[in-house]
Amino acid sequence: MNMHFDADRALLDPLETASIDALRQHQLERLRWSLKHAYDNVSLYRQRFDAAQVHPDDLRSLDDLGRFPFTGKSDLRDNYPYGMFAVPQSEIVRLHASSGTTGKPTVVGYTQNDIDTWAGVVARSIRAAGGRKGDKVHIAYGYGLFTGGLGAHYGAERLGCTVIPMSGGQTEKQVQLIRDFQPDIIMVTPSYMLNLADEIERQGINPYDLRLRLGIFGAEPWTAELRRAVETRLGIEALDIYGLSEIMGPGVAMECAETKDGPTVWEDHFYPEIIDPLTGAVLPDGEYGELVFTSLSKEALPMIRYRTRDLTRLLPGTARPMRRIDKITGRSDDMLIIRGVNVFPTQIEEQVVKLGSLAEVYEIHLSRQGNLDSLDVHVELKPELQHLAPEQQQQIAQELGRRIKTHIGISAKIQLLPCQSLKRSEGKACHVYDRRKQA
Ligand code: DLL
Repeated sequence: MNMHFDADRALLDPLETASIDALRQHQLERLRWSLKHAYDNVSLYRQRFDAAQVHPDDLRSLDDLGRFPFTGKSDLRDNYPYGMFAVPQSEIVRLHASSGTTGKPTVVGYTQNDIDTWAGVVARSIRAAGGRKGDKVHIAYGYGLFTGGLGAHYGAERLGCTVIPMSGGQTEKQVQLIRDFQPDIIMVTPSYMLNLADEIERQGINPYDLRLRLGIFGAEPWTAELRRAVETRLGIEALDIYGLSEIMGPGVAMECAETKDGPTVWEDHFYPEIIDPLTGAVLPDGEYGELVFTSLSKEALPMIRYRTRDLTRLLPGTARPMRRIDKITGRSDDMLIIRGVNVFPTQIEEQVVKLGSLAEVYEIHLSRQGNLDSLDVHVELKPELQHLAPEQQQQIAQELGRRIKTHIGISAKIQLLPCQSLKRSEGKACHVYDRRKQA
């Protein structure tokens, strides 16, 4: 018997170690409450349920959820800003909003209980990643309307950590503070972590001399290859945190340190389903499809069968009884169709990082020449390989092209650019520049 492990288990919330039966019973009760709360207080849900001829009382088992209608981002947009709130405005203590690059942002609200629940699941997430009371946590997710910064902040405080609320940007200053304040944990998007790693090296700091031992990375897709690269470069453990503002923010699911096998969904608050994105049919666990969530405790903005557009599958619990999600391949709206082939940017990332001689940054440029799509992948050599002779550099570019052709099935023109010429991320990275639509 491992005493250290036993002692750590005593820190967990009761439902993190409950039996599956107890968990399902809890979910059923919470689901009944959530459906009724939505139906009684949000006219959109009442209309939708009535039109589908279902009533919250029809939910007798968890499988009955499949009879209820979906909601989506457009419902939040159509009811902008507060039309889907289920409590009076005087009960709302916080608003957040998605960046909304196209059209109106989506606005989400929280009651004090919602904020407490959220802090609880983020504290649980940091603990699952290996964080403990007393750890210093550097938060480089953006503060403000984005849920990343404040969501991480309240959770880290709840766990009893010392919070360094740095937010995104000011990269040089970030690194100075990481060196001086010596945080144990960093919470940041994986792409901004890479930018920080470059700056750490630029300032002549050996990352292995820093105190950092753990990175809690999320808010954008990132591959297993990138995980290995970041871990080796910085000498830390890198764990995956998942979430979305419509359902709460960061901390809907978190990878556990003991297994590192994909985020565990905190199923006592967020009920997951996987559906066929085309037909809407519920798929069995283990099959790939679109992730759908129903909130089980949210008061201000209950979300019933919210279609995330994130593509993944549900896997059985390992470190906890709750189910896990596989790494998100991408969002259905991120999928590129290039000369008839479906491609996710993460597939390109995989090949770029695996090669080992390229910096972990890349841009995908798409254009149309006549009727043909053309794919250009822009990459940089690792700084220490800049001195390579032009022929050797050309060989590396050719090798990447060959691997993309073999593994993804499309021809790409590889452009090797000088070191530090690609735009670095300070939050969620933008990898795709698609000029085909204007053409
Ligand atoms: O990105 C919340 C968050 C902040 C999560 C900090 C983790 C850390 P939104 O801006 O609403 O919320 O974007 C949500 O980001 O639907 C996914 O497409 C993507 N996403 C979030 N976490 C991950 C992850 C925050 N770990 C959208 N892996 C989601 C892949 C992720 N994609």
